[in-house]
Amino acid sequence: MVKVNINKQVEVDYRDIRAEDPDDAFFMQVFPKIAPYTMTVERGIEAPYQLYKAIQYIVQNGVPGDIVECGVWRGGSVMLIAMALQRFGDTGRKIYLYDTFEGMTRPEDRDTDWDGRNYQKTWDEARSKNQSMGFGGTVDDVRANVLATGYPAENLVFVKGPVEQTIPGVIPGEAAMLRLDTDWYSSTWHELVHLFPVLTPGGILIIDDYGWCEGAREATDKYIRENRVRIFLSRVEESVRLGVKTEA
Ligand SMILES: C[S@@+](CC[C@H](N)C(=O)[O-])C[C@H]1O[C@@H](n2cnc3c(N)ncnc32)[C@H](O)[C@@H]1O
Repeated sequence: MVKVNINKQVEVDYRDIRAEDPDDAFFMQVFPKIAPYTMTVERGIEAPYQLYKAIQYIVQNGVPGDIVECGVWRGGSVMLIAMALQRFGDTGRKIYLYDTFEGMTRPEDRDTDWDGRNYQKTWDEARSKNQSMGFGGTVDDVRANVLATGYPAENLVFVKGPVEQTIPGVIPGEAAMLRLDTDWYSSTWHELVHLFPVLTPGGILIIDDYGWCEGAREATDKYIRENRVRIFLSRVEESVRLGVKTEA
């Protein structure tokens, strides 16, 4: 049994994550190292653990393609991906990191949280104090965080700017994983339009903000509906959804 202190209020027992399983033990050793660098831990261990297992699945099943994260913040999810790829002996894949590296772009009216509260107010308040909502660090800060994992520098592709401007200018030929985490309708829609077609069948789609951000949910549902995508999005936790692409 593994006990994890998520924050001061919550301590959770994970009885299915076993110290005697060497892959689980590796995850538990890595988890505290990446935790300060990813927002996903605010909701517990489920999303990071699922991400780790998703990389294991991709490597062990030879799913071809690069790894993509849109919206990297401090780089913690990519750090976990990089550590998992090294653990499972596959450091040849490129990891694409898309971010403004300046914080969130301004949300639209439709970008509310699950209680209907609009994110514009938060964004505007931050701006009025000369702060940037969702800023996780400069590209050099995030590069240093990810390089500390030992992943080959030449396989890290940093793409700076709003995804609406940088994609599809720089995208992989094929991807084994899309981890979409820019929260808003516009960016999530743009990412799906240009990146879902390069996700290989058998590859993994993760929508980090499906539960929390109405815009991300709306974009995802619309893309799936309009393109008749046959995918089952499984609920990892209250926000994250994960599915495996079934067909080209
Ligand atoms: C929720 S955070 C990402 C969290 C991160 N994936 C993690 O595991 O902790 C959202 C990130 O998306 C970036 N972002 C928001 N809108 C963007 C856009 N339109 N284009 C590029 N990056 C964007 C922000 O700068 C921020 O770093």
